[in-house]
Amino acid sequence: MEIAVIHFIMLGVISGLTKGAGVLPDGPLNAAVGATVMFTTTLIPSDKPFLSVVWTFGSENIITFSGKNITGPEYEGRITLFMSTGSLELRNLDLNDSGQYSLSIIQAGGPGKTGSTTLNVLEPVSNVTATASSTDLVEFNSSVRLSCSSSGSSLSFLWLNGSSEVTASDRVHITDGGSTLTIVNVTHYDQGPFRCRVSNPVSVGTSDLITLSISYGPEDINLTISLSQEYYGEGSDITLSCSADSRPAALFYWFLNGDFLSDTGPELRLMNIQMSQSGNYSCQAFNDKTLRYETSQPAAVSVLERISGAFVTPTTSLTIEGIFVNLTCDAAGSVFTRKWMKDGSDLTLAGNMNLYDKNKVLSFNSLKTTDSGEYSCNTSNPLSNDEAKYTMVVICR
Ligand SMILES: *[C@@H]1O[C@H](CO)[C@@H](O)[C@H](O)[C@H]1NC(C)=O
Ligand SMILES: *[C@@H]1O[C@H](CO)[C@@H](O)[C@H](O)[C@H]1NC(C)=O
Ligand SMILES: *[C@@H]1O[C@H](CO)[C@@H](O)[C@H](O)[C@H]1NC(C)=O
Ligand SMILES: *[C@@H]1O[C@H](CO)[C@@H](O)[C@H](O)[C@H]1NC(C)=O
Ligand SMILES: *[C@@H]1O[C@H](CO)[C@@H](O)[C@H](O)[C@H]1NC(C)=O
Ligand SMILES: *[C@@H]1O[C@H](CO)[C@@H](O)[C@H](O)[C@H]1NC(C)=O
Ligand SMILES: *[C@@H]1O[C@H](CO)[C@@H](O)[C@H](O)[C@H]1NC(C)=O
Ligand SMILES: *[C@@H]1O[C@H](CO)[C@@H](O)[C@H](O)[C@H]1NC(C)=O
Ligand SMILES: *[C@@H]1O[C@H](CO)[C@@H](O)[C@H](O)[C@H]1NC(C)=O
Ligand SMILES: *[C@@H]1O[C@H](CO)[C@@H](O)[C@H](O)[C@H]1NC(C)=O
Repeated sequence: MEIAVIHFIMLGVISGLTKGAGVLPDGPLNAAVGATVMFTTTLIPSDKPFLSVVWTFGSENIITFSGKNITGPEYEGRITLFMSTGSLELRNLDLNDSGQYSLSIIQAGGPGKTGSTTLNVLEPVSNVTATASSTDLVEFNSSVRLSCSSSGSSLSFLWLNGSSEVTASDRVHITDGGSTLTIVNVTHYDQGPFRCRVSNPVSVGTSDLITLSISYGPEDINLTISLSQEYYGEGSDITLSCSADSRPAALFYWFLNGDFLSDTGPELRLMNIQMSQSGNYSCQAFNDKTLRYETSQPAAVSVLERISGAFVTPTTSLTIEGIFVNLTCDAAGSVFTRKWMKDGSDLTLAGNMNLYDKNKVLSFNSLKTTDSGEYSCNTSNPLSNDEAKYTMVVICR
Protein backbone atom coordinates (compact mmCIF):
# COMPACT_ATOMS: atom_id res chain seq x y z
CA MET A 1 0.00 0.00 0.00
CA GLU A 2 2.77 2.41 0.93
CA ILE A 3 4.62 1.63 -2.29
CA ALA A 4 1.54 2.47 -4.40
CA VAL A 5 1.25 5.88 -2.70
CA ILE A 6 4.88 6.70 -3.47
CA HIS A 7 4.37 5.76 -7.11
CA PHE A 8 1.32 7.95 -7.32
CA ILE A 9 3.30 10.96 -6.03
CA MET A 10 6.15 10.38 -8.47
CA LEU A 11 3.77 10.15 -11.40
CA GLY A 12 2.11 13.35 -10.25
CA VAL A 13 5.50 15.12 -10.35
CA ILE A 14 6.30 13.81 -13.81
CA SER A 15 2.92 14.60 -15.34
CA GLY A 16 3.23 18.07 -13.79
CA LEU A 17 6.43 18.57 -15.78
CA THR A 18 4.74 17.50 -19.01
CA LYS A 19 2.03 20.13 -18.60
CA GLY A 20 -1.02 17.92 -18.44
CA ALA A 21 -0.34 15.99 -21.68
CA GLY A 22 -0.89 12.86 -19.63
CA VAL A 23 1.62 10.07 -19.97
CA LEU A 24 2.94 11.32 -23.33
CA PRO A 25 5.10 14.43 -23.75
CA ASP A 26 3.84 17.50 -25.64
CA GLY A 27 4.05 17.15 -29.38
CA PRO A 28 4.11 17.42 -32.13
CA LEU A 29 6.67 14.88 -33.14
CA ASN A 30 8.16 15.24 -36.62
CA ALA A 31 9.56 12.36 -38.59
CA ALA A 32 10.46 11.60 -42.18
CA VAL A 33 8.70 9.16 -44.46
CA GLY A 34 10.26 5.71 -44.00
CA ALA A 35 11.74 6.60 -40.61
CA THR A 36 10.98 5.12 -37.21
CA VAL A 37 9.37 7.06 -34.35
CA MET A 38 9.30 6.25 -30.67
CA PHE A 39 6.33 7.37 -28.59
CA THR A 40 7.98 7.37 -25.18
CA THR A 41 5.73 7.53 -22.15
CA THR A 42 6.61 9.34 -18.96
CA LEU A 43 6.06 6.16 -16.95
CA ILE A 44 8.98 4.58 -15.14
CA PRO A 45 9.37 0.82 -15.26
CA SER A 46 7.89 -0.96 -12.28
CA ASP A 47 7.36 -4.52 -11.06
CA LYS A 48 3.64 -4.08 -11.37
CA PRO A 49 2.47 -5.35 -14.72
CA PHE A 50 0.03 -3.38 -16.83
CA LEU A 51 -3.50 -4.74 -16.77
CA SER A 52 -4.22 -3.10 -20.10
CA VAL A 53 -2.47 -0.89 -22.66
CA VAL A 54 -4.42 0.58 -25.58
CA TRP A 55 -2.74 2.57 -28.37
CA THR A 56 -5.01 4.16 -30.95
CA PHE A 57 -4.47 6.29 -34.05
CA GLY A 58 -7.54 8.50 -34.31
CA SER A 59 -10.23 5.95 -33.61
CA GLU A 60 -8.31 3.03 -35.10
CA ASN A 61 -6.70 0.36 -32.91
CA ILE A 62 -2.95 0.07 -33.17
CA ILE A 63 -2.39 -2.41 -30.40
CA THR A 64 -4.51 -3.44 -27.49
CA PHE A 65 -2.96 -5.51 -24.73
CA SER A 66 -5.11 -7.00 -22.04
CA GLY A 67 -3.60 -10.36 -21.32
CA LYS A 68 -2.97 -10.83 -25.03
CA ASN A 69 -2.04 -8.54 -27.90
CA ILE A 70 -4.49 -7.46 -30.60
CA THR A 71 -2.59 -5.60 -33.32
CA GLY A 72 -4.38 -3.57 -36.03
CA PRO A 73 -3.79 -5.06 -39.51
CA GLU A 74 -2.03 -1.84 -40.71
CA TYR A 75 0.49 -2.19 -37.89
CA GLU A 76 1.40 -5.85 -38.17
CA GLY A 77 5.20 -6.01 -38.16
CA ARG A 78 5.60 -2.21 -37.89
CA ILE A 79 5.35 -1.81 -34.14
CA THR A 80 6.97 -2.81 -30.89
CA LEU A 81 5.21 -2.26 -27.59
CA PHE A 82 7.52 -1.92 -24.60
CA MET A 83 5.80 -3.69 -21.75
CA SER A 84 7.80 -1.99 -19.00
CA THR A 85 6.74 1.60 -19.85
CA GLY A 86 3.96 1.32 -22.42
CA SER A 87 6.10 3.14 -24.98
CA LEU A 88 5.44 2.35 -28.63
CA GLU A 89 7.84 2.20 -31.57
CA LEU A 90 6.30 2.72 -35.03
CA ARG A 91 8.44 1.93 -38.07
CA ASN A 92 8.46 2.56 -41.79
CA LEU A 93 6.36 5.70 -41.53
CA ASP A 94 4.09 6.83 -44.34
CA LEU A 95 2.48 10.24 -44.87
CA ASN A 96 -0.87 8.89 -43.79
CA ASP A 97 0.63 8.06 -40.36
CA SER A 98 0.32 11.78 -39.54
CA GLY A 99 -2.29 12.45 -36.90
CA GLN A 100 -3.14 12.00 -33.27
CA TYR A 101 -1.93 9.03 -31.23
CA SER A 102 -3.59 8.21 -27.92
CA LEU A 103 -2.62 5.89 -25.12
CA SER A 104 -4.70 4.53 -22.28
CA ILE A 105 -3.08 2.44 -19.52
CA ILE A 106 -4.35 0.64 -16.47
CA GLN A 107 -1.76 -0.53 -13.96
CA ALA A 108 -2.49 -3.01 -11.18
CA GLY A 109 -3.60 -1.09 -8.09
CA GLY A 110 -3.30 2.32 -9.73
CA PRO A 111 -5.64 4.72 -11.48
CA GLY A 112 -6.05 4.63 -15.26
CA LYS A 113 -3.84 7.01 -17.18
CA THR A 114 -4.17 8.49 -20.64
CA GLY A 115 -2.14 10.63 -22.95
CA SER A 116 -2.07 11.77 -26.51
CA THR A 117 0.35 13.39 -28.94
CA THR A 118 0.52 14.41 -32.56
CA LEU A 119 2.86 13.01 -35.20
CA ASN A 120 3.71 14.81 -38.44
CA VAL A 121 5.23 12.58 -41.06
CA LEU A 122 7.04 14.66 -43.63
CA GLU A 123 8.41 13.98 -47.07
CA PRO A 124 12.10 14.92 -46.81
CA VAL A 125 13.42 17.79 -48.90
CA SER A 126 14.91 16.61 -52.16
CA ASN A 127 15.72 17.81 -55.65
CA VAL A 128 16.13 21.49 -54.73
CA THR A 129 16.38 23.41 -58.00
CA ALA A 130 16.91 27.13 -58.48
CA THR A 131 16.48 28.85 -61.83
CA ALA A 132 16.92 32.44 -62.99
CA SER A 133 14.67 34.20 -65.48
CA SER A 134 17.87 35.43 -67.14
CA THR A 135 21.53 35.38 -66.23
CA ASP A 136 22.60 38.01 -68.77
CA LEU A 137 21.75 41.35 -67.21
CA VAL A 138 22.57 45.04 -67.52
CA GLU A 139 23.23 47.13 -64.44
CA PHE A 140 20.49 49.69 -63.67
CA ASN A 141 18.47 48.34 -66.58
CA SER A 142 17.48 44.77 -65.70
CA SER A 143 15.40 42.86 -63.22
CA VAL A 144 15.78 39.19 -62.52
CA ARG A 145 13.55 36.56 -60.92
CA LEU A 146 15.08 33.54 -59.20
CA SER A 147 12.73 30.64 -58.52
CA CYS A 148 13.26 27.72 -56.22
CA SER A 149 11.46 24.42 -56.38
CA SER A 150 11.79 21.31 -54.30
CA SER A 151 10.10 18.07 -53.43
CA GLY A 152 9.08 17.57 -49.82
CA SER A 153 6.40 18.65 -47.41
CA SER A 154 6.01 21.71 -45.14
CA LEU A 155 8.82 23.49 -46.96
CA SER A 156 10.51 26.71 -45.81
CA PHE A 157 12.64 28.63 -48.31
CA LEU A 158 15.69 30.75 -47.68
CA TRP A 159 17.89 32.51 -50.24
CA LEU A 160 21.61 32.93 -49.73
CA ASN A 161 23.79 35.54 -51.44
CA GLY A 162 27.31 34.23 -51.03
CA SER A 163 27.18 33.03 -47.45
CA SER A 164 24.71 35.56 -46.10
CA GLU A 165 20.95 35.44 -46.08
CA VAL A 166 19.20 37.67 -48.62
CA THR A 167 17.06 40.30 -46.93
CA ALA A 168 14.14 42.00 -48.61
CA SER A 169 14.36 45.70 -49.50
CA ASP A 170 13.00 48.18 -52.05
CA ARG A 171 14.92 46.35 -54.74
CA VAL A 172 14.82 42.85 -53.38
CA HIS A 173 11.45 41.15 -53.15
CA ILE A 174 10.85 37.72 -51.65
CA THR A 175 7.49 36.22 -52.55
CA ASP A 176 5.60 32.94 -53.02
CA GLY A 177 6.33 31.83 -49.48
CA GLY A 178 10.01 32.60 -49.97
CA SER A 179 10.47 30.51 -53.08
CA THR A 180 10.81 33.49 -55.46
CA LEU A 181 13.49 36.15 -55.22
CA THR A 182 13.09 39.17 -57.47
CA ILE A 183 15.86 41.74 -57.79
CA VAL A 184 14.61 44.91 -59.41
CA ASN A 185 17.14 47.11 -61.24
CA VAL A 186 20.24 45.00 -60.58
CA THR A 187 23.58 46.54 -59.66
CA HIS A 188 26.90 44.94 -60.40
CA TYR A 189 27.18 43.85 -56.77
CA ASP A 190 24.21 41.52 -57.27
CA GLN A 191 26.09 38.80 -59.13
CA GLY A 192 25.77 36.39 -56.22
CA PRO A 193 26.37 33.46 -56.26
CA PHE A 194 22.85 32.81 -55.05
CA ARG A 195 21.45 29.56 -53.80
CA CYS A 196 18.23 28.44 -52.29
CA ARG A 197 18.06 26.49 -49.04
CA VAL A 198 14.92 24.51 -48.41
CA SER A 199 14.10 22.93 -45.10
CA ASN A 200 11.37 21.21 -43.15
CA PRO A 201 11.59 19.86 -39.60
CA VAL A 202 13.19 16.63 -40.81
CA SER A 203 15.65 17.69 -43.52
CA VAL A 204 17.45 20.45 -45.41
CA GLY A 205 18.47 20.74 -49.05
CA THR A 206 20.41 23.32 -51.03
CA SER A 207 20.30 24.19 -54.70
CA ASP A 208 23.23 24.61 -57.03
CA LEU A 209 24.80 28.07 -57.19
CA ILE A 210 23.49 30.64 -59.63
CA THR A 211 25.91 33.36 -60.65
CA LEU A 212 24.47 36.30 -62.53
CA SER A 213 26.48 37.94 -65.26
CA ILE A 214 25.81 41.63 -64.91
CA SER A 215 27.21 44.04 -67.48
CA TYR A 216 28.14 47.41 -66.06
CA GLY A 217 30.19 50.50 -66.65
CA PRO A 218 32.37 51.86 -67.98
CA GLU A 219 33.17 53.80 -64.85
CA ASP A 220 36.26 55.20 -63.09
CA ILE A 221 37.96 55.93 -66.38
CA ASN A 222 41.61 56.85 -65.94
CA LEU A 223 44.06 58.19 -68.50
CA THR A 224 47.76 58.04 -67.61
CA ILE A 225 50.91 58.88 -69.52
CA SER A 226 54.10 56.88 -69.22
CA LEU A 227 56.82 59.03 -67.65
CA SER A 228 54.42 61.91 -67.29
CA GLN A 229 56.20 65.25 -67.66
CA GLU A 230 55.29 68.80 -68.52
CA TYR A 231 57.22 68.84 -71.81
CA TYR A 232 58.49 66.18 -74.16
CA GLY A 233 61.39 66.59 -76.57
CA GLU A 234 60.64 66.11 -80.24
CA GLY A 235 61.47 62.53 -81.18
CA SER A 236 60.44 61.06 -77.82
CA ASP A 237 58.26 57.96 -77.56
CA ILE A 238 55.36 58.18 -75.17
CA THR A 239 52.52 55.85 -74.30
CA LEU A 240 49.11 56.92 -73.09
CA SER A 241 47.10 54.29 -71.25
CA CYS A 242 43.43 54.30 -70.59
CA SER A 243 41.60 52.09 -68.14
CA ALA A 244 38.03 51.83 -66.97
CA ASP A 245 36.01 49.50 -64.78
CA SER A 246 33.67 47.75 -67.17
CA ARG A 247 32.11 44.38 -67.87
CA PRO A 248 32.54 43.26 -70.54
CA ALA A 249 35.88 45.05 -71.05
CA ALA A 250 35.46 48.48 -72.59
CA LEU A 251 36.52 49.46 -76.10
CA PHE A 252 38.75 52.53 -76.17
CA TYR A 253 38.78 55.44 -78.59
CA TRP A 254 41.19 58.38 -78.65
CA PHE A 255 40.83 62.11 -79.23
CA LEU A 256 43.31 64.95 -79.78
CA ASN A 257 41.85 68.37 -78.96
CA GLY A 258 38.40 66.80 -79.29
CA ASP A 259 39.09 65.36 -82.75
CA PHE A 260 38.68 61.64 -83.22
CA LEU A 261 41.94 59.72 -83.86
CA SER A 262 41.89 56.47 -85.79
CA ASP A 263 43.72 54.64 -82.99
CA THR A 264 41.78 52.25 -80.77
CA GLY A 265 42.66 50.09 -77.80
CA PRO A 266 43.70 50.80 -74.24
CA GLU A 267 47.15 52.11 -75.26
CA LEU A 268 48.03 54.93 -77.59
CA ARG A 269 51.73 54.81 -78.55
CA LEU A 270 53.20 57.99 -79.90
CA MET A 271 56.58 57.18 -81.42
CA ASN A 272 59.06 59.86 -82.51
CA ILE A 273 56.60 62.54 -81.48
CA GLN A 274 56.54 65.89 -83.30
CA MET A 275 55.51 69.37 -82.14
CA SER A 276 52.40 69.15 -84.30
CA GLN A 277 51.20 66.32 -82.06
CA SER A 278 51.09 68.61 -79.02
CA GLY A 279 47.64 69.09 -77.53
CA ASN A 280 45.06 67.71 -75.18
CA TYR A 281 44.58 63.96 -75.45
CA SER A 282 41.55 62.18 -74.08
CA CYS A 283 40.18 58.68 -74.29
CA GLN A 284 36.69 57.34 -74.35
CA ALA A 285 35.63 53.95 -73.01
CA PHE A 286 32.61 52.26 -74.54
CA ASN A 287 30.76 49.16 -73.32
CA ASP A 288 28.94 47.48 -76.19
CA LYS A 289 26.65 45.59 -73.82
CA THR A 290 25.42 48.49 -71.68
CA LEU A 291 25.83 50.90 -74.62
CA ARG A 292 27.27 53.41 -72.15
CA TYR A 293 30.46 55.38 -72.51
CA GLU A 294 32.66 57.59 -70.39
CA THR A 295 35.29 60.12 -71.46
CA SER A 296 38.48 60.83 -69.54
CA GLN A 297 39.84 64.14 -68.40
CA PRO A 298 42.19 65.55 -71.04
CA ALA A 299 45.93 65.03 -70.61
CA ALA A 300 48.11 67.78 -72.05
CA VAL A 301 51.07 66.72 -74.16
CA SER A 302 53.51 69.55 -74.98
CA VAL A 303 56.25 68.71 -77.43
CA LEU A 304 59.32 70.96 -77.75
CA GLU A 305 62.20 71.05 -80.15
CA ARG A 306 65.56 71.00 -78.37
CA ILE A 307 67.57 74.20 -78.69
CA SER A 308 70.76 74.24 -80.73
CA GLY A 309 72.97 76.68 -82.63
CA ALA A 310 72.30 79.83 -80.63
CA PHE A 311 73.73 82.92 -82.37
CA VAL A 312 73.85 86.71 -82.12
CA THR A 313 73.68 89.05 -85.14
CA PRO A 314 75.38 91.13 -86.40
CA THR A 315 78.60 89.18 -86.10
CA THR A 316 81.00 92.09 -86.73
CA SER A 317 82.36 93.31 -83.42
CA LEU A 318 83.83 96.69 -84.39
CA THR A 319 81.37 99.59 -83.96
CA ILE A 320 81.60 103.33 -83.60
CA GLU A 321 80.61 105.46 -80.63
CA GLY A 322 77.21 107.17 -80.99
CA ILE A 323 75.68 104.94 -83.59
CA PHE A 324 72.57 102.81 -83.28
CA VAL A 325 72.94 98.99 -82.97
CA ASN A 326 70.46 96.13 -82.57
CA LEU A 327 71.86 92.81 -81.24
CA THR A 328 69.52 89.95 -82.10
CA CYS A 329 69.71 86.62 -80.29
CA ASP A 330 68.19 83.50 -81.79
CA ALA A 331 68.53 79.71 -82.00
CA ALA A 332 67.03 76.68 -83.68
CA GLY A 333 64.34 74.97 -81.60
CA SER A 334 61.61 76.13 -79.27
CA VAL A 335 63.11 79.15 -77.50
CA PHE A 336 61.18 79.93 -74.34
CA THR A 337 63.53 82.41 -72.66
CA ARG A 338 66.57 84.50 -73.52
CA LYS A 339 68.91 85.94 -70.99
CA TRP A 340 71.65 88.48 -71.69
CA MET A 341 74.88 88.79 -69.73
CA LYS A 342 77.81 91.12 -70.03
CA ASP A 343 81.33 90.13 -68.99
CA GLY A 344 79.97 87.19 -67.02
CA SER A 345 77.42 89.13 -64.97
CA ASP A 346 73.72 89.73 -65.43
CA LEU A 347 73.22 92.61 -67.79
CA THR A 348 72.06 95.87 -66.17
CA LEU A 349 70.33 98.04 -68.71
CA ALA A 350 72.00 101.45 -69.02
CA GLY A 351 70.00 104.47 -70.22
CA ASN A 352 70.98 103.94 -73.85
CA MET A 353 69.78 100.30 -73.91
CA ASN A 354 66.43 98.65 -74.46
CA LEU A 355 65.15 95.06 -74.72
CA TYR A 356 62.47 94.17 -77.26
CA ASP A 357 60.59 91.18 -78.41
CA LYS A 358 60.91 89.16 -75.16
CA ASN A 359 64.65 89.86 -74.93
CA LYS A 360 65.31 88.80 -78.51
CA VAL A 361 66.63 92.24 -79.43
CA LEU A 362 69.09 94.19 -77.31
CA SER A 363 69.06 97.70 -78.69
CA PHE A 364 71.68 100.46 -78.13
CA ASN A 365 70.45 103.84 -79.35
CA SER A 366 73.77 105.68 -78.94
CA LEU A 367 76.79 103.50 -78.29
CA LYS A 368 79.32 104.51 -75.69
CA THR A 369 82.86 103.20 -75.38
CA THR A 370 81.84 101.71 -72.00
CA ASP A 371 79.45 99.44 -73.86
CA SER A 372 82.47 97.47 -75.05
CA GLY A 373 82.71 93.98 -73.59
CA GLU A 374 81.75 90.35 -73.94
CA TYR A 375 78.00 89.80 -74.28
CA SER A 376 76.36 86.46 -74.06
CA CYS A 377 72.83 85.37 -74.77
CA ASN A 378 71.49 82.15 -73.17
CA THR A 379 68.52 80.71 -75.02
CA SER A 380 66.62 78.05 -73.13
CA ASN A 381 63.51 75.96 -72.85
CA PRO A 382 62.59 73.46 -70.14
CA LEU A 383 64.52 70.69 -71.90
CA SER A 384 67.67 72.38 -73.22
CA ASN A 385 69.67 75.57 -73.55
CA ASP A 386 72.43 77.02 -75.68
CA GLU A 387 74.56 80.11 -75.28
CA ALA A 388 75.92 82.47 -77.94
CA LYS A 389 78.73 84.99 -77.35
CA TYR A 390 79.37 88.32 -78.97
CA THR A 391 82.30 90.66 -78.33
CA MET A 392 81.66 94.34 -78.90
CA VAL A 393 84.46 96.85 -79.41
CA VAL A 394 83.27 100.47 -79.51
CA ILE A 395 85.82 102.84 -80.94
CA CYS A 396 85.87 106.61 -80.46
CA ARG A 397 84.94 108.86 -83.33
C1 LIG B 1 2.59 -8.28 -26.68
O1 LIG B 1 3.61 -7.69 -27.53
C2 LIG B 1 4.78 -7.27 -26.87
C3 LIG B 1 5.74 -6.68 -27.88
O2 LIG B 1 5.12 -6.15 -28.92
C4 LIG B 1 5.44 -8.42 -26.18
O3 LIG B 1 6.55 -7.95 -25.45
C5 LIG B 1 4.46 -9.10 -25.29
O4 LIG B 1 5.05 -10.25 -24.71
C6 LIG B 1 3.19 -9.52 -26.02
N1 LIG B 1 2.26 -10.14 -25.09
C7 LIG B 1 1.60 -11.24 -25.36
C8 LIG B 1 0.71 -11.78 -24.34
O5 LIG B 1 1.74 -11.82 -26.45
C1 LIG C 1 -1.35 4.51 -45.94
O1 LIG C 1 -0.99 4.47 -47.27
C2 LIG C 1 -0.38 3.26 -47.69
C3 LIG C 1 0.08 3.38 -49.11
O2 LIG C 1 0.80 4.58 -49.25
C4 LIG C 1 -1.39 2.17 -47.57
O3 LIG C 1 -0.79 0.92 -47.92
C5 LIG C 1 -1.90 2.10 -46.17
O4 LIG C 1 -2.93 1.20 -46.07
C6 LIG C 1 -2.39 3.43 -45.67
N1 LIG C 1 -2.64 3.34 -44.28
C7 LIG C 1 -3.70 3.86 -43.69
C8 LIG C 1 -3.74 3.76 -42.23
O5 LIG C 1 -4.58 4.43 -44.34
C1 LIG D 1 13.51 17.62 -59.89
O1 LIG D 1 12.77 18.79 -60.17
C2 LIG D 1 12.69 19.13 -61.53
C3 LIG D 1 11.99 20.47 -61.65
O2 LIG D 1 10.97 20.60 -60.72
C4 LIG D 1 11.96 18.02 -62.25
O3 LIG D 1 11.91 18.31 -63.61
C5 LIG D 1 12.69 16.71 -62.03
O4 LIG D 1 11.97 15.66 -62.62
C6 LIG D 1 12.87 16.45 -60.57
N1 LIG D 1 13.70 15.28 -60.39
C7 LIG D 1 13.43 14.39 -59.46
C8 LIG D 1 14.42 13.27 -59.36
O5 LIG D 1 12.48 14.49 -58.70
C1 LIG E 1 18.02 51.92 -61.29
O1 LIG E 1 18.86 52.37 -60.26
C2 LIG E 1 19.60 53.53 -60.59
C3 LIG E 1 20.53 53.85 -59.44
O2 LIG E 1 20.20 53.21 -58.30
C4 LIG E 1 18.64 54.67 -60.88
O3 LIG E 1 19.38 55.81 -61.27
C5 LIG E 1 17.71 54.27 -62.02
O4 LIG E 1 16.77 55.28 -62.25
C6 LIG E 1 17.00 52.98 -61.67
N1 LIG E 1 16.24 52.54 -62.83
C7 LIG E 1 14.99 52.14 -62.74
C8 LIG E 1 14.34 51.69 -64.01
O5 LIG E 1 14.41 52.11 -61.67
C1 LIG F 1 24.58 40.47 -52.47
O1 LIG F 1 25.71 40.73 -51.66
C2 LIG F 1 26.43 41.89 -52.02
C3 LIG F 1 27.60 42.02 -51.07
O2 LIG F 1 28.21 40.83 -50.83
C4 LIG F 1 25.55 43.11 -51.91
O3 LIG F 1 26.27 44.25 -52.31
C5 LIG F 1 24.34 42.92 -52.79
O4 LIG F 1 23.47 44.04 -52.63
C6 LIG F 1 23.63 41.65 -52.42
N1 LIG F 1 22.52 41.48 -53.35
C7 LIG F 1 21.36 40.98 -52.97
C8 LIG F 1 20.30 40.88 -54.00
O5 LIG F 1 21.18 40.61 -51.84
C1 LIG G 1 44.74 56.04 -62.35
O1 LIG G 1 45.75 55.08 -62.57
C2 LIG G 1 46.95 55.35 -61.87
C3 LIG G 1 47.99 54.34 -62.31
O2 LIG G 1 47.43 53.10 -62.53
C4 LIG G 1 46.67 55.26 -60.37
O3 LIG G 1 47.84 55.56 -59.66
C5 LIG G 1 45.59 56.27 -60.04
O4 LIG G 1 45.25 56.15 -58.68
C6 LIG G 1 44.37 56.04 -60.87
N1 LIG G 1 43.44 57.11 -60.63
C7 LIG G 1 42.15 56.89 -60.47
C8 LIG G 1 41.30 58.09 -60.26
O5 LIG G 1 41.67 55.76 -60.50
C1 LIG H 1 44.24 72.13 -73.58
O1 LIG H 1 43.49 72.33 -72.38
C2 LIG H 1 43.87 73.48 -71.65
C3 LIG H 1 43.11 73.51 -70.36
O2 LIG H 1 42.08 72.62 -70.36
C4 LIG H 1 43.58 74.70 -72.50
O3 LIG H 1 43.98 75.86 -71.79
C5 LIG H 1 44.35 74.58 -73.79
O4 LIG H 1 44.03 75.66 -74.64
C6 LIG H 1 44.02 73.30 -74.51
N1 LIG H 1 44.88 73.14 -75.65
C7 LIG H 1 44.41 72.91 -76.87
C8 LIG H 1 45.43 72.79 -77.95
O5 LIG H 1 43.22 72.85 -77.09
C1 LIG I 1 17.36 49.08 -71.02
O1 LIG I 1 15.99 48.81 -70.84
C2 LIG I 1 15.17 49.38 -71.86
C3 LIG I 1 13.74 49.12 -71.46
O2 LIG I 1 13.56 47.80 -71.03
C4 LIG I 1 15.53 48.74 -73.21
O3 LIG I 1 14.75 49.32 -74.22
C5 LIG I 1 16.99 49.03 -73.47
O4 LIG I 1 17.38 48.38 -74.67
C6 LIG I 1 17.83 48.51 -72.35
N1 LIG I 1 19.20 48.91 -72.57
C7 LIG I 1 20.18 48.02 -72.61
C8 LIG I 1 21.52 48.56 -72.84
O5 LIG I 1 20.00 46.83 -72.43
C1 LIG J 1 65.89 97.48 -83.72
O1 LIG J 1 64.89 96.60 -83.15
C2 LIG J 1 63.70 97.28 -82.79
C3 LIG J 1 62.82 96.23 -82.13
O2 LIG J 1 62.66 95.09 -82.90
C4 LIG J 1 63.03 97.83 -84.00
O3 LIG J 1 61.85 98.52 -83.62
C5 LIG J 1 64.00 98.76 -84.69
O4 LIG J 1 63.46 99.23 -85.90
C6 LIG J 1 65.32 98.08 -85.00
N1 LIG J 1 66.29 99.09 -85.52
C7 LIG J 1 67.04 98.83 -86.58
C8 LIG J 1 67.91 99.94 -87.04
O5 LIG J 1 66.99 97.76 -87.15
C1 LIG K 1 71.12 78.99 -69.54
O1 LIG K 1 69.85 79.04 -68.90
C2 LIG K 1 69.46 77.79 -68.34
C3 LIG K 1 68.05 77.96 -67.83
O2 LIG K 1 67.89 79.06 -67.04
C4 LIG K 1 70.44 77.40 -67.27
O3 LIG K 1 70.04 76.12 -66.74
C5 LIG K 1 71.79 77.27 -67.86
O4 LIG K 1 72.74 76.97 -66.85
C6 LIG K 1 72.21 78.57 -68.57
N1 LIG K 1 73.44 78.35 -69.26
C7 LIG K 1 74.49 79.11 -69.07
C8 LIG K 1 75.68 78.78 -69.86
O5 LIG K 1 74.41 80.05 -68.26
